[in-house]
Amino acid sequence: MQFESTDAYRKKIRRILITEDELRTAVQKAGADISREYEGKPLLLVSILKGSYIFLADLSRAVTIPCEIGFMAAKSYFEDTRSSGSVEITYDLMQDISQYHVLIVEDIIDTGRTLAEVVRMLRERHPLSLRVITLLDKPERRVVDFKADTALFTIPDHFVIGYGLDYGEYFRGLPYIAEFQE
Ligand code: IMP
Ligand code: MG
Repeated sequence: MQFESTDAYRKKIRRILITEDELRTAVQKAGADISREYEGKPLLLVSILKGSYIFLADLSRAVTIPCEIGFMAAKSYFEDTRSSGSVEITYDLMQDISQYHVLIVEDIIDTGRTLAEVVRMLRERHPLSLRVITLLDKPERRVVDFKADTALFTIPDHFVIGYGLDYGEYFRGLPYIAEFQE
């Protein structure tokens, strides 16, 4: 994707949906909750690349107990209506997760297909426990039955950008969540 000018790029940012302040407050609270719930337990935060990189960076700094971080990348193929077997792990964790309480850190749950598959795959590795925290949840778009243990914000069915989320690989660095101008 290419933009004619920076002005053309900026015009794609329709309106701010979640401000920097709102993000900071919610992430701080989530970090405090995690620190309380996982106290004394070996905790591994697993970021699903790339969209969750900023959320992970801020969340991990809001967690005050010892924890490790890991990364995974998944590619989804959903051109047709099949709802399983279409997720490929393109980058896998280095850790043997059977020794950890795993908390998956995701940017957004849309149809739910990617995370439903990732969770199914990680369960087979027998972590001590497995939960999912997502920054955003778009429940109206769900096509598979999937629910995060924690969702910081529930949003309507709009394509959103910023704070790690992209459109055509752009806009990830916006410090807020904005609605994309189609
Ligand atoms: P799902 O498998 O449909 O739940 O899709 C999950 C992935 O699609 C997310 O991890 C995002 O990378 C991407 N995605 C879904 N909705 C949006 C959006 O509104 N903005 C940016 N990326 C999105
Ligand atoms: Mg993602």
